[in-house]
Amino acid sequence: METYVPIKKTKPEKMVEMVTAWAGLELIIEDILERFNIGRDSCIEFGVEFGYSSVVFSNYFKEVKGIDIFIGDEHTDHKGDHYDKTKASLAEFTNIELIKSDYRDWIQKDTKQYNFSHVDIVHNYKETYECGLWAAQHSECTVFHDTESFPEVRRAVIDIAKATGKRVYNYPHCNGLGIIV
Ligand SMILES: C[S@@+](CC[C@H](N)C(=O)[O-])C[C@H]1O[C@@H](n2cnc3c(N)ncnc32)[C@H](O)[C@@H]1O
Repeated sequence: METYVPIKKTKPEKMVEMVTAWAGLELIIEDILERFNIGRDSCIEFGVEFGYSSVVFSNYFKEVKGIDIFIGDEHTDHKGDHYDKTKASLAEFTNIELIKSDYRDWIQKDTKQYNFSHVDIVHNYKETYECGLWAAQHSECTVFHDTESFPEVRRAVIDIAKATGKRVYNYPHCNGLGIIV
């Protein structure tokens, strides 16, 4: 994967403070959108947890959909239902819509095209590949968190790029961000 080198780093205007492995990536989202000339209408995210990345995306897109089972997974520290907590803490961000759903159910029924997508669910190959392939086929640009900390995510990203014939980059900081465009 070609290394992604941002030209500039911008702090989004609106942020929420919380502990998350995603911290630091907010600085390169605008750079990615500008570099690849991505539309700013719609974003879909798989893996919201407490909403750090959703709020980052809410700065750049008219609408952000956040899909999550909201119970955590084998790789998250938090286990147990966190839908109500996340919904309450994101209430002021009116362009974020949270949907409690497994990605498997969601991708069966959604045929829409999005400008941008983000995959940050359980960090196994099978799930990342399945969800990420759908995301790459339904958006101009897809980003994947944890390409450095989970080799299975990295492998899935490389295989999705091959399957779709799209370009792939890797930002090797903040646990890694794969970019398929
Ligand atoms: C690493 S966290 C997401 C972190 C978040 N992006 C952030 O900015 O902090 C992973 C999330 O994926 C969700 N998840 C795991 N498997 C899922 C699945 N099959 N469908 C939907 N969400 C899933 C978990 O509930 C968890 O909230």
